[in-house]
Amino acid sequence: MTRSSGSVFAVQDGRSAFLDACRGQDVDHVPVWFMRQAGRSLPEYRAARGTGSILDALKSPELAAELTMQPVRRYGVDAAILFSDIIVPVAAVGFGVDVEAGRGPVVARPFRSAADLQRLRPLDPSADAPYVAETVGLAVRELQGTGVPLIGFAGAPFTVASYLVEGGPSRSYAATKTLMRSDPGLWRELLDRLADLAITSLRSQVMAGASAVQLFDSWAGALSPGDYAERVLPATRRVFEGISDLEVPRIHFGVGTGELLGLMAAAGAEVVGVDWRVPLDEARRRVGPGHALQGNLDPALCLAPWQVVAGEVMEVLARGGGVGHVFNLGHGVLPQTDPEILKRIVDLVHAADPAELCSSEAIV
Ligand code: CP3
Repeated sequence: MTRSSGSVFAVQDGRSAFLDACRGQDVDHVPVWFMRQAGRSLPEYRAARGTGSILDALKSPELAAELTMQPVRRYGVDAAILFSDIIVPVAAVGFGVDVEAGRGPVVARPFRSAADLQRLRPLDPSADAPYVAETVGLAVRELQGTGVPLIGFAGAPFTVASYLVEGGPSRSYAATKTLMRSDPGLWRELLDRLADLAITSLRSQVMAGASAVQLFDSWAGALSPGDYAERVLPATRRVFEGISDLEVPRIHFGVGTGELLGLMAAAGAEVVGVDWRVPLDEARRRVGPGHALQGNLDPALCLAPWQVVAGEVMEVLARGGGVGHVFNLGHGVLPQTDPEILKRIVDLVHAADPAELCSSEAIV
């Protein structure tokens, strides 16, 4: 069955296909949203955003809520994601981190010794970063009646630690891995503090109205399974346990995590994010039963001719199997992506019948 397309399918009978899919329940369409759906690929983002650090822009809840809403209006996606950044909590407690245009988070005095733990005191959301909950509140108010839930998020301990230790984006994570192995006690303390910051931040976002959360461990794929299991997973697991009473779906995402998917599934989240390197049917085998999957169109393919994109979308849908699948890219939207292509992807995903995908045996 093919239906006419459009954002109305985000809401059917007051239910959210996104929340239902996260919980492995039947859906009448496969839900779709995009990591980095707000941001530089959108002309309305560039118009509203102005110049200056994202960390300053976020201090205006009206602006941050508007940037949260822009992709919902334009694409008709099934979920909004809070416009914020993974380094907001560490910045808010005064660690000393900034965002450099065209580069990302940078730290003037990287984390090196036990003395640096003093720069990572507990977060008091209402005093340190009141604008986050205010943004959530404004966005949720605007989403009311649309049936589109808001996803809150935080950076996972390892990925945030990598910025603090490296001092900025990294390819090798050499300083991070060196600290992890040369001073395991300090490494554990660092990850524990970052886990506490993530828990506090996620809890306040849910209290303010977020309906689901995603934990971004974007760079966990740099680790061997052994290092991940022993030196990272315990802190990540603690984050998911620390919000389990809130009963919102929890998504656990990383890039290049093909060899870690089974371990990541053990961290406690309902949904495991998968990048484009592992087909979803194979990812399902690695993750095991009882989890939904999110992914996994290659963001670079969004720059290809539409026929190519459409073929790949159908392949991802077929391998996803229609149930327990949240359609997404394997990582964030690339800045040079044509918004019109993303709109067509949403319409194509919404037009597919989950029941048919279920019986297609993942053959395309
Ligand atoms: O990309 C991911 O893996 C998602 C997790 C993540 C976020 N921020 C979440 C986010 C990571 C790893 C970061 C760090 C970061 N912060 C980077 C990447 C640097 C690197 O190592 O490659 C950058 C460039 C920033 C700063 C930043 N964050 C900017 C300039 C913006 C504005 C929008 C844009 O893309 O230019 C953000 C927004 C942001 N960071 C969002 C999220 C979930 C909100 C946008 C959305 O998802 O719609």
